[in-house]
Amino acid sequence: LAPKSLRGKKLLITAGPTFEPIDPVRGITNHSSGKMGFAIARAAAEAGAEVTLVSGPVHLPTPRGVRRIDVQSAQQMFDAVLPMAAHQHAFIASAAVADWRPAQTHEHKLKKAEGGANLGGVAPTLAMTENPDILAAVAKLPQPPYCVGFAAESEKLAEHAEAKRRRKGIPLIVANLGPATFGRDDNALLLIDEQGQRELPRADKLSLARELIAELSKRL
Ligand code: C5P
Repeated sequence: LAPKSLRGKKLLITAGPTFEPIDPVRGITNHSSGKMGFAIARAAAEAGAEVTLVSGPVHLPTPRGVRRIDVQSAQQMFDAVLPMAAHQHAFIASAAVADWRPAQTHEHKLKKAEGGANLGGVAPTLAMTENPDILAAVAKLPQPPYCVGFAAESEKLAEHAEAKRRRKGIPLIVANLGPATFGRDDNALLLIDEQGQRELPRADKLSLARELIAELSKRL
């Protein structure tokens, strides 16, 4: 890794899960730990970039020198990212953004009927609505930053990841070479761009993040 290869570059990174509220005490989320995105933020700051990290709810310390903005829902992540995105050199979307949210957030806690189903109570039905695609929206800006997406697929990894890259209109996609990496400290990645593929073999997430940042600095 060339020292300070990203000096003078602005990077925006999303990380972690999102939390989609149902009522004041409940919500829908996923198992993303945020570790990969936080490692990328750290590696980018080490490389001299000015880093903004927009994070869903995680239990991780902010990497040194990184500006962090905490959000909960996909809509909040979208609202934080979009106004900033046009001023960045690169955008790395590592967050596991919920595809859907409850159509309605109840103001008060949903209450079970006294005695529950046994006494004729009815379980609530959750109507869902689609969340905005943050990465696709950034990629569609008139002068988008260099966009990097992530793909977690359960089958036909390279094929599905490449299709996703094209669908979202982004130059680079990073596919997680399973098994499920949620919460683990290591991972293996497959980088896919217009030129082809490069595998980053299993390693700890910080080492992978540094390699990804080295690849990114060649492209900026
Ligand atoms: O479509 P899918 O969720 O599989 O795409 C994953 C990629 O898109 C990741 O980079 C993720 O951060 C980003 N994404 C996003 N906003 C969404 C859904 C996914 O930025 N609503």
